[in-house]
Amino acid sequence: MEPVRLGVNVDHIATIREARRSREPEPVAAAVLAELAGADQITVHLRGDRRHIQDRDVDLLRRAIATRLNLEAAATPQMVTIAATYKPDTVTLVPERREEITTEGGLDVLLNQNLVRKTAQDLRAAGVGVSVFVDPDYDQIKAVAKLEIGLIELNTAKYSEAARPDQAAAEADKVSQAARAAVKLGLKAIAGHGLTYRNVRRIVQIPEIEELNIGHSIVARAALVGMERAVREMKTLMQR
Ligand code: PXP
Repeated sequence: MEPVRLGVNVDHIATIREARRSREPEPVAAAVLAELAGADQITVHLRGDRRHIQDRDVDLLRRAIATRLNLEAAATPQMVTIAATYKPDTVTLVPERREEITTEGGLDVLLNQNLVRKTAQDLRAAGVGVSVFVDPDYDQIKAVAKLEIGLIELNTAKYSEAARPDQAAAEADKVSQAARAAVKLGLKAIAGHGLTYRNVRRIVQIPEIEELNIGHSIVARAALVGMERAVREMKTLMQR
């Protein structure tokens, strides 16, 4: 089996910078080091409130990185304009609430079908690939497939947050079934949210999952041991 590809989310490098509204640390430097250590993609979330990643980061990353740029964004006209300007390889549509600390759940594609369809059309017209972040729920996955969106990112938050081993096993099983269903419906399956050095192996073992987006845990380790070592250690855990 191919190893799982790793998308390194560098949002929290920008969080440290924004804590002082200063110039360092530079997310582009972090992204380049992550690539040197084997990252297959760089992911950033440009939030409506710009609490970490800024527009200039998206611009500079697009020009500096050698792998792929995945932009997580809410389905808004402003984000479509930004994506059309900077042309990330993909936009991952995520729900967004101002009060939340991090993305709290998958996008409800059933409830927002028209908005997701229109946003995906506009992004495709701008030459940008589209992915949608959803909970591991069959109805949501079917709704994404109906919109002819080829990529789906399955939310692993419930798995990551499970308090007991039996709960974690049950949640991993849901992700596994969702990935199988997605592939059967012709989608490529990606996953992420809350994954760490301790819990990633179980998700790596799901053969249908081609790529993982991991941010907080890698940046937290990078703060102590350096970005290259942090990425290399995660890549080692992603062998299968
Ligand atoms: N995937 C999506 C869609 C996300 O919104 C996030 C958080 O920005 C991640 C993956 C990465 O989550 P974490 O920082 O917990 O690894």
